[in-house]
Order: sequence, then structure tokens, then C-alpha cells
Amino acid sequence: MTVRVGIVGCGGIGNWHVNHLEQMDDVKIVATCDVMAERANDLAKRFGATAYTSHHPMYEQEKLDAVFICIPPGAHTDTETMAAERGIHIFVEKPMTVCMEQAHTIADAIDKAGIVSAVGFQDRYLDIIDNLRTFLEGKKVGLFTGAWVGGMPTVPWWRVKAESGGQIVEQTIHLYDLARLLFGEVDTVYAAAGKGIMVGIENYDVEDYSSVLLTFKNGVIGNIITGDYLKDAVPRNGIEIYCEDARIEYELRSAVRYHSRYLVREERRAIDQGMRSDRTFIDAVKAKDPTMVRSPYRDALKSLAVTIAANESLETGEPIKVC
Ligand SMILES: NC(=O)c1ccc[n+]([C@@H]2O[C@H](COP(=O)([O-])OP(=O)(O)OC[C@H]3O[C@@H](n4cnc5c(N)ncnc54)[C@H](O)[C@@H]3O)[C@@H](O)[C@H]2O)c1
Repeated sequence: MTVRVGIVGCGGIGNWHVNHLEQMDDVKIVATCDVMAERANDLAKRFGATAYTSHHPMYEQEKLDAVFICIPPGAHTDTETMAAERGIHIFVEKPMTVCMEQAHTIADAIDKAGIVSAVGFQDRYLDIIDNLRTFLEGKKVGLFTGAWVGGMPTVPWWRVKAESGGQIVEQTIHLYDLARLLFGEVDTVYAAAGKGIMVGIENYDVEDYSSVLLTFKNGVIGNIITGDYLKDAVPRNGIEIYCEDARIEYELRSAVRYHSRYLVREERRAIDQGMRSDRTFIDAVKAKDPTMVRSPYRDALKSLAVTIAANESLETGEPIKVC
């Protein structure tokens, strides 16, 4: 079976997926869609596909097996529900929306249609994360810290909170999702944030930096810091876990280091997790088996909920119960 794919959103991450998909003999990109016609046209030309500037005619006119939805978080409308109603399997980039109500509507539509869904939490497909999860089995973890502190991404929608959700929702969500994968469900979040370092940037209304305290249902406590104001400083992206017999450092998509009293062991990433994630989705589509995917929409919704609760805590100054 050749999987007929449409791409909605032909920007940075849309092209990243395309670079994986074009290496697969059993995938054909038949339609591209972007509100910027030039982007849709350029990509369509590469594959002899049809270009659209709206997903409505694309869904109506094309016979698609699957769609990759790679648009900014605030741009989601009926992009997913319309696909679900037509039985089109959905890969959607994180964060899937900035509105929990919309996320629930989409999750319900996906469940009702019985289609395969996947969300772009690529860290779940890393070999070093598989091994870290095995290492942690049966071990007691008390504390972890996480950091996503770097510079400001240049896409114009990113700095507008209504469009991106802010940095916690848009970027650091990867670490929140990973924390859920490693430690289970979050009970409460309590957040503080600051501004005033990033000045003179047009349309900028996101926080410059924040710190979020998380308590988990199993008693684990974590703190995740987020910042976008670094310029010449070296960024930090990852998680540090403290268990009885090791302090473990996960350096984002690069390495895991296990520090114990007598030994430091480093394990470096040996696979392309992006390719593995996209391949898994395509295989799940071919098998019509939603359970093959490591981050289905219904589960990813829980990670989104934690980050949106952190935003709520920023607004209210109160701890927020997540579930
Ligand atoms: N999984 C990851 O590691 C990862 C990495 C980067 C980005 N992302 C996510 O991917 C999404 C897109 O990010 P990006 O960096 O590619 O942004 P981008 O701005 O480079 O690309 C987004 C594209 O979507 C188009 N678009 C906007 N609204 C649209 C609509 N309604 N219909 C069709 N096209 C529309 C824009 O014109 C643009 O070309 C974001 O949610 C981002 O968080 C995920």
C-alpha cells in the first residue's frame, strides 16, 4: 500500500517531516497546503503534488490516507476535525492548539473516527530515552529539574502569546511530556515568571523567563525553568534526575549521562528519532493500528494540559490542580 499524504503548513517543521517522508518508498506526497501560496507551490512542485491555500478544498478534492498538520499552535481550526470526519489519519505537531476546549473536541473526533493520531513529541522515539526508562524501572526518584533556556525563535508568531501559547506551551512542552513519560501524571503546578530583559521587540508579549514547580501523583517533585533571552550564552535544554544510585543528565536529543559515585557513563543518541517517529506513524496508518504510536493525541492532550495549567498559574499566582 502507498500512503497518500497531505502536508498542511509548509514551513520549518513541515519541511522536516517531508525530508523524512521522501525517503520512504511507500509514501507519496499528493497535496500541500499553506496560507502562504508560494510555500505550498514550492513543495508541490518537488513532488508533482497539488497545492492549496486552505485545507477545506484539499480535504474535499484529494483522496488522502494521512495528513501532517504543521501550523502554528494558534492557527488550528477544523484542520483536525475535518480530517477525522473523512477517516484521514492525523500527525499533528505539538503544541496541538492553545485551547484545551478545542483539544478535547479534536480528541473526541479522533476517537469517534477510530483513526491513527500522532503528536510530534519526538523525544519519545529516542534510543537513549528507551534505555533511560529501562534504567529507571523499579527505582525511586525524588527530584528532577528541567531547563529549556536559550534564544528567541525567529518565526513571527512565536513572540505573540495568543498565537504560540508562550514558551512553556510552545517549546518547553517537550520536557513536560518527557517528565510525564518518565514519572507519570502531574498533580499540581505552581509557576512564576519575569519580563524586562527582552525589550524593543515588535509584538512581543510572552514571558522572558519562568520557573514551574510540579508535583506528581507518585510523589516526585520537579522544577522546570524556561527562558528565551540568552544571546551569547550557551543554551541549556534537558532534564536532570536524582535517584538513589545515580544522578542522570539528559541533554536534549544528544546524550544521557549516568553519574554514580565511582562511574560516569555516557550514552549518545545513535538513531534519528524524527525519522523513527514518522516511520512509526506511517506503519500505524498502514496497519490501521492507533496503539503503535507513542504519542497519540489523547495522551499528548495531558501534556498540553500541564503547560496550559502552568500558564493559568502565572496569571492567577495560585497553584493549579492539573487532574
Ligand atoms: N516537534 C518539534 O520538535 C517541533 C520543532 C519545530 C516546530 N514544531 C511545531 O510545529 C509547528 C509549526 O512550527 P514551524 O517552526 O514549522 O513554523 P513556521 O512558521 O516555520 O511554519 C508554519 C507554516 O504554517 C503556515 N500556516 C499558518 N496557518 C496556516 C493554516 N491555517 N493553514 C495552512 N498553513 C498555515 C504558515 O504560513 C507557515 O508556512 C508549531 O506548532 C511548532 O511548535 C515542532
